[in-house]
Amino acid sequence: MIVTTDQLFKLAYGKFAVGAYNINNMEQTLGLFEGNIKSQAPFIVQISKGARNYANPKMLEAIIRAAEELYPEAVFAVHLDHGDEQTCYDCIDSGFYSSVMIDASHEPFEENIAITRRVVERAHAAGISVEAELGMLGGVEEDIAVDEKNAMLTDPDEAKEFVERSGCDSLAVAIGTSHGAYKFAGSQGLHFKRMAEIQKNLPGFPLVMHGSSSVPQEEVARINAAGGALKGAKGVDADQFAKAVPLGVTKVNIDTDGRLVWTRVHREYFRDHPEGFDFRKPGKIFVPAYADFIAHKNEKLLSAGTLASVREALS
Ligand code: G3H
Ligand code: 13P
Ligand code: ZN
Repeated sequence: MIVTTDQLFKLAYGKFAVGAYNINNMEQTLGLFEGNIKSQAPFIVQISKGARNYANPKMLEAIIRAAEELYPEAVFAVHLDHGDEQTCYDCIDSGFYSSVMIDASHEPFEENIAITRRVVERAHAAGISVEAELGMLGGVEEDIAVDEKNAMLTDPDEAKEFVERSGCDSLAVAIGTSHGAYKFAGSQGLHFKRMAEIQKNLPGFPLVMHGSSSVPQEEVARINAAGGALKGAKGVDADQFAKAVPLGVTKVNIDTDGRLVWTRVHREYFRDHPEGFDFRKPGKIFVPAYADFIAHKNEKLLSAGTLASVREALS
């Protein structure tokens, strides 16, 4: 059942974070639905511009609609990840998406507000909610000065002004995470103090944490042992999600970790079967491995086991 992102956020706020997982193909989609049913969690299917270019928006929609039929128990929203203005409009007009993200965080503050405001107007007229981003997502290294470190994080006063003036429904904040497999040089964690300050200024308002993959060291080691060359890859400690939930983090974005599962399965398969060329063989290993990964992540996000109560609240 496709629901609105707002509905999920209202039920999740302060209790659990909704896992937002990127998909690009059929195998990921099957594993994603399987894992969420296995762990009894609601979730968000995220589609990036890159995914739309790779798989074609129509193909992605068809795959998701097929998964919805195959897994009638699933409760999920469909979200555009890191959209530009035109892609947001395309998704709003498609009638398929529950929410869009307008990422104008690279623009100056006023321009970010203006672009976000335009998208909000179009989206709200269509009953769709909007995630915006404020701040520079990036790993904050341990050895830089405190002032410099703070300047890289989302400013709580700016966050309040941004939300009020743009009308966005949720906000991606920079609180120490970054995209990809190389997040921190040291043992950097999340900036809980800053999260608490943002929440104080925006009580009850859903905050989004991008760049939240954990980059498990065991996974990296297995990839490298099977011919990979991921040097110094590092991610967010998944045990910290539970601490972020009461501070207003309602959506947690995870993509890289799923790519690592895919890479590990396929590298190991072809290393162990150099004669192989039937891609369905590693595909059959990948789908349940991805499902296990999703189920494990949902435990960390505290969304595991909430599906029955979510379904009841929405009925
Ligand atoms: O934050 C970006 C997501 O990981 C999506 O990545 O743009 O390569 O599809 P992508
Ligand atoms: P990761 O690269 O940490 O998986 O982050 C994904 C993300 O933020 C998607 O928007
Ligand atoms: Zn992101």
